[in-house]
Amino acid sequence: MKTILVAGGAGYIGSHMVALLVEKGYDVVVADNLCTGHKEAVKGAELCVGDVRDRAFLDKVFTEHRIDGVINFAAFSLVGESVTNPLKYYGNNVAGSQSMLETMVQHGVDKIVFSSTAATYGEPEKQPIEETDRTEPTNPYGASKLAIEGMLKWCSQAYGIKYAALRYFNAAGSNTDVGIGEDHHPESHLIPIVLQVALGKRDHVGIFGEDYPTPDGTCVRDYIHVRDLANAHLLALQYLDKGGESGPFNLGSGDGYSVKEIIETARKVTGHPIPAVVEPRRAGDPSVLIAANRKAAEKLGWKPERGLEEIISDAWTWHKGHPEPTMWPSAWRSVR
Ligand code: UFG
Repeated sequence: MKTILVAGGAGYIGSHMVALLVEKGYDVVVADNLCTGHKEAVKGAELCVGDVRDRAFLDKVFTEHRIDGVINFAAFSLVGESVTNPLKYYGNNVAGSQSMLETMVQHGVDKIVFSSTAATYGEPEKQPIEETDRTEPTNPYGASKLAIEGMLKWCSQAYGIKYAALRYFNAAGSNTDVGIGEDHHPESHLIPIVLQVALGKRDHVGIFGEDYPTPDGTCVRDYIHVRDLANAHLLALQYLDKGGESGPFNLGSGDGYSVKEIIETARKVTGHPIPAVVEPRRAGDPSVLIAANRKAAEKLGWKPERGLEEIISDAWTWHKGHPEPTMWPSAWRSVR
């Protein structure tokens, strides 16, 4: 494998993927419509600006480059927005993946690593969550990703497509070497919000609910460094190339941290008091989401290398260097 197509490579996780592939010496082609991503985040790769739903655009990309494998991050990823506008999510996420798969079949490309999510599980049956557990998404974002997983499974049977659907838990952190990081507009994720308080951009962070059945009453999540996520994608491509069996893989650390623990760790990392105020629960938040990551360890040889302090410290480095959203020439959002 020499040339890798990264769809959505100008977004948060995609740009970290590009940085890793470039570092490892791959030829990287990025396809991105720059609707939520930004071209400045693509470093060391060729950027083809276009929409993956546009078959003519994709056909041109595949004709002009001998693509050996695809990593697909191109998607909308705001859970709340997906509830009010589900057709936007099915229309972009599902149709975009369908168009990508059609083009792959047409050009004889048979390997794809797909950006999926823990939101495919919905309200979990048990902890930690295994890949074989019930998948019953509670929002259209998760449902659109699960629909794509289904499409991948059937395309694998019908056309011999090999796939890994990587179900991310809570991605965070940044690549301080390359100078890329996370900045959503509007911001809804806990770690960036906590760091915005430390930067003085907000007075306080709201803790959404203190009455959950968890040790300190606040929600528990499994935070995973975006660089560890990128590593898993590369291992998944190599696994498929060696003939590994297609399917879903959880990407999480296997450790859970509560909202209060995140705030406390951020206080330690930043040296800032970070005032917090308990607020009502946010609708639709499961109390605990922790990944069982044994399958990724056994099959892909993947092991997360960076813990919570490093995640927050790397995110802090990036946020300090980009105190105003306008420091990115345009807003760019997570593409999970
Ligand atoms: N939280 C707060 N205050 C805030 C923001 C968040 O208390 O200001 C809490 C949330 O209630 C939740 C936790 O912090 O309990 C983490 O919230 P995030 O919004 O950072 O992340 P989520 O776990 O809600 O969502 C993440 C991804 C989604 C994905 C989901 C899969 O952002 O895209 O995991 O489980 F769908």
